[in-house]
Parts: sequence; structure tokens; C-alpha cells
Amino acid sequence: MTIPAGYRRVDLPFERRAEMLSVDQWAFAMTHPGDVAREIEPTLDWDRCRGLEVGDGLGGEAGDVAAVHSSFPYTLRTPGGTIAASGLTWVAVHPAHRRRGLLRSMIDDHFARSRARGEIVSTLVAAETTIYQRFGYGLACPAYKITMSRDLTFREVAGSEDLIVRFEDADLTRHASVVRAVAARDQRPGAMVVMSDALLAAQFTDPEALRDGRERKRIAIVEDEHGPAAFALFQRRLAWDDTGPAGTGVTEAWAAATPASSRRLWSVLADLDLMRSFTATGLPLDDPAILLARDLRGLDVRLKDHVWVRILDVPAALTARTYAADLDLTVDVADATIAENSHPWRIETRDGRATVTHAEPGSAVDLRMSIQDLSAAYLGGTTIAALAGAGLVDEVRQGATSLLSEALRSPVAPRSTFSF
Ligand SMILES: CC(C)(COP(=O)(O)OP(=O)(O)OC[C@H]1O[C@@H](n2cnc3c(N)ncnc32)[C@H](O)[C@@H]1OP(=O)(O)O)[C@@H](O)C(=O)NCCC(=O)NCCS
Repeated sequence: MTIPAGYRRVDLPFERRAEMLSVDQWAFAMTHPGDVAREIEPTLDWDRCRGLEVGDGLGGEAGDVAAVHSSFPYTLRTPGGTIAASGLTWVAVHPAHRRRGLLRSMIDDHFARSRARGEIVSTLVAAETTIYQRFGYGLACPAYKITMSRDLTFREVAGSEDLIVRFEDADLTRHASVVRAVAARDQRPGAMVVMSDALLAAQFTDPEALRDGRERKRIAIVEDEHGPAAFALFQRRLAWDDTGPAGTGVTEAWAAATPASSRRLWSVLADLDLMRSFTATGLPLDDPAILLARDLRGLDVRLKDHVWVRILDVPAALTARTYAADLDLTVDVADATIAENSHPWRIETRDGRATVTHAEPGSAVDLRMSIQDLSAAYLGGTTIAALAGAGLVDEVRQGATSLLSEALRSPVAPRSTFSF
């Protein structure tokens, strides 16, 4: 593992929180008042905060923190299973230390520590999309951002109008169980089945100084006979123009576990009084809103990157999901960062489960692909066939692409419960 000369790796426990926050604010060009810093503190898993500090002989103060990162542990739903995931977050390098290889060094550290904890994939939401692909992250959860106009209506779904909707001030203590219950019911690959307290707290954080004219965070909860079925943490901002009220609403943290609750959630959020539009991010590509909207143009759909996945352990990842077809293929995976993954793998699937072993030396390879593209296809949304169609997968044996593509494909599009 590379450490640039003059730096050393350090833990950044809670006691060093001021240094962690300082580097983050330098990197993300912002300054928080002290009370904001205190509100942010519970939103990090401090035993997973790491950094690089200046050693002796580099100039500057030895011990100054130059770069930081952290991660959230969570249980990620795969097609047909669950795995331990490490959600990379708070990646920041102080501008005085940028482009010296500190990020690359932190990625090595993150991968090694995550693997040592038994975490099988790393996930992230990228500030800039071009940064992380070089480290093997593939876009497993592309997502739509929609802006629903106030006059939008949705086709009927049986039972949807009978569901109860509650509107309340968002409160972590009161609503943690609601969020956890919906996430656990969410069958989509990518869902956060179990999440850390800090990851959940991050969704509810709402410092007044950062509201920028918006109301405090509220929550809409849709309940069915089994309990909470959907929720959205949302905020509105009231505005007026010559024609009257022109408010806007937004949710970036929501989930819906059933068709009826999804339809109910979108229809109430699209029709809040005094709002001209309501924006929602992170919709899976087959979200019911897109099929139910009577006027697709009234959704103003935009394609975005949401969660990127990076397989850290190929055999552990491939055996922790199910398959839609039987096959016996040798796939040569290229991984420049984790040598253990870079291998021709024999993948045999039978009755939905896979056996994954090192291919016998000299055996014929059927497909070649990078760890980035295998990771993109892992949750079953992005298909191997589409990647091959884009020239990113090399089909050595004719027919191997469509075989693996069909086996990996999920009937529902993947979606991460939260950004982080
Ligand atoms: C982005 C950031 C973390 C990069 O850190 P860094 O220490 O300068 O990066 P490194 O020197 O380790 O660069 C590693 C590689 O990434 C590339 N890279 C770094 N920043 C990049 C960027 N913003 N866009 C594209 N590529 C980038 C480098 O060119 C280098 O490529 P190479 O090794 O293939 O030649 C740092 O500039 C930063 O903190 N920026 C502001 C906050 C931010 O965007 N954080 C990411 C949150 S998701």
C-alpha cells in the first residue's frame, strides 16, 4: 500500500473531530458555525474515520491533518441475498496537499480495512464522476431526478388511496424505526437493509444555518396493514411571483416498499399546497412514478449517477447473490488495485446459486472485463450485454455475453436507499 513520502496514516477518532471537519471544510469550500459542527458529529462512524497527517521533513507542522475519509457500514441487498458493504464518505484532501497521491493512498487504506472487516463491496456517491472510476467503481445504480409539476396526476393503483399518510416534523428518535422498517421491506437490490446509527442520523441532520430559506425537515409516512411502507424526508421553500404561489419542494431521502405506497407517496408530494413543483432524486430507472404519471413530460426526468459499486472480493460477491440462469463460464477479471481479484474466474451457476473458483491454469477464457464493469453489473441493473454493446466487455467465446447477462440481470432496477 502506497503512502506518499512525508505523510503517515492515522485514525481520526472523535477526539480529533475538529481536524476532520477542518479538512472537510477546506476541501468542500465551506465554513460552518460551531453549532453546525456539533450537529454533524453524530453523523459519522468515528471508529472508521481515517486520514493522512504530515510527518517530519515535509515542511508545515508535523501532525497536521492533510486528508480524511470515512465509511458507513451497512447491509446491502443484492439480487437474492445480502452482503456487508462499506459506504465510502467524507473524502477530502486539503488544497495545499492535492495531487500528491493522497486520495490514491486513502483508497488503498479503505479497501484494505474494508476487506479485513469482511466487507465485500465498497459503495459511494461521487462529488465528481470522473474521480473514482480509475479505482474500479462502476455505476451500478444510475437514477432519475424528477421534478413533478403541480398539475401532474397518476394512474390509479388498487388500494393506494386507502393508505394512511402522516405528515410530521422529522425527528431521528421518533422516526428511526419508521425508516428502518421501510428499508428492511424494500426488495430492490441496492437497498440498505440494515444501516448504522450514524448513516441514519446523516439523513435527519438539518442545521438551521444551512437551510437557505427552506422549512425544517419534515417527514411523510405512508402506512399499510404491515406498518410503514413508504416515507420521504422533505423540505419546502415558499416563493411568490406575479402569478401567485411558486413554492418548491424536494426530497433526497425516501423509500417505498410497495406499488401502492409508492403511488400514494408521489401523488401527495406532487400536490402540496402553494408548491409549483416537487423534486425527488434517486429514483430507480423503473420507478412506478414514471409508469404511473399520466403526463411523462410533467415529470421533467433527468438521468443522474447515484450509487457506484466496487467489488472488493470477487468470489465472495458473486456467491452472495442469485442467478436467473444456469451457466459455466470462465471470466477473466482485470483489477489493477486488488491483486486477489485479478484472475480468470470459473463461475458455475445452478438452481440460482453460484460456485466461483480460480479457473484451471490454461483453461479457455469466455469473457474478459474490468472490475469496474463487473461491479456496474453486480446489482443486476446495468447489463453485461449493454456493457459489451458499448465495447467494454470482450467476448472471447461467442454467446458468453448473453449467457452471463441474462444470469446477472435483476427483474427490478437497483436503487440505494440513501445518498451518503
Ligand atoms: C478529489 C480529491 C479527493 C483528490 O485528491 P488528491 O489527493 O488530489 O488525488 P490524488 O493525487 O491521489 O489523485 C489520484 C488520481 O485521481 C485523479 N484525480 C484527482 N482529483 C480528480 C478530479 N477532481 N477529477 C478527476 N480526476 C481526479 C488524479 O489525476 C490521479 O489520477 P492518476 O493517478 O490516474 O494519475 C481532492 O482534490 C479533494 O478533496 N477535492 C475536493 C473534495 C472532493 O471532491 N472530494 C470527493 C468527494 S466524493
